[in-house]
Amino acid sequence: MKFAIISDIHGNLPALQAVLKDAKEQGITAYLFAGDYCISGPWPDECITAIKEIPDKYVIRGNEEKYLENLIGKDQTLWNDGQMQVSYWCYKNVSRDNLDYLLSLPYTAGLECNGIKIHMAHSSVDFLGTHPFYTWNSVTVAERSRQAGTDPHTVLSAMSEEREQDKEFLEAVEKLEKGIYVFGHSHIQWSYRDEDKDIYLINPGSCGLPLDGIKDSVPYTVLEIGDDGSVDIEEKRIAFDKEDYIEKMTRSGQYREANVWSKVIMREQETAIEHMYFFLAFVTHYAEKTGDERRPFAVDTWEKAYEIWERQQG
Ligand SMILES: [Fe+2]
Repeated sequence: MKFAIISDIHGNLPALQAVLKDAKEQGITAYLFAGDYCISGPWPDECITAIKEIPDKYVIRGNEEKYLENLIGKDQTLWNDGQMQVSYWCYKNVSRDNLDYLLSLPYTAGLECNGIKIHMAHSSVDFLGTHPFYTWNSVTVAERSRQAGTDPHTVLSAMSEEREQDKEFLEAVEKLEKGIYVFGHSHIQWSYRDEDKDIYLINPGSCGLPLDGIKDSVPYTVLEIGDDGSVDIEEKRIAFDKEDYIEKMTRSGQYREANVWSKVIMREQETAIEHMYFFLAFVTHYAEKTGDERRPFAVDTWEKAYEIWERQQG
């Protein structure tokens, strides 16, 4: 059987469509979706509808689904801060049916194929815990790319080598039972195989918002399990037109109603590098400096901080 593993779509319909088209051409038999379908891209409802239409699939929840769940039944007249604008917009633009579908999804899933167990969770923490290697994420890629001025492939392969030599990582893997472990969340595509122990880890990266520094494409991973239980993992990258995404974003309702968040996301799409983490740190510092204790951040603080931050980015 051939599985397409797709994660962290974040409302990016054109990326999802590009990946699904390629998966169809690969003769995929079933799809594994590892969470985070909404928030940040301007097509959340369309992405959920597209997933619902796929017949053979296993779909779990991510952390972004929780943000929408938290808004159910809340007084919308109080939705007047800046930081949450993107969640508010997303909530108002996902149909009730699609929201119910998202919230009906399990946090984890398990299946078996040709005698091999496949475990799914949104984050690797569920399987491996919070060891230091957990922090080798999009922030690490951003910091290392900046410092070294080197290309993303060099950064990614160095991170991968370090992980595979890390004592705590190897100990955490050692504790797992045989099988394949599927997760997303970090927005970095990677995989690990220990063929002696029959343990495989797969993070397909972020289909909708890759933050691995590779700008021209979006990732997903093909997993093939043979009749004899053999396991083959292929990391795929699909060409994706970021300029077209950005152009469509600027014409979207999300861009109008959650302008700051949308602009930071556009910067992330352009560079494939984490920026939101750094902007949130900046606005936190800015609010502290100006004595603004309101959280989530007020519109004024949110927008003024962005203006200064954007100028600094050049
Ligand atoms: Fe995500």
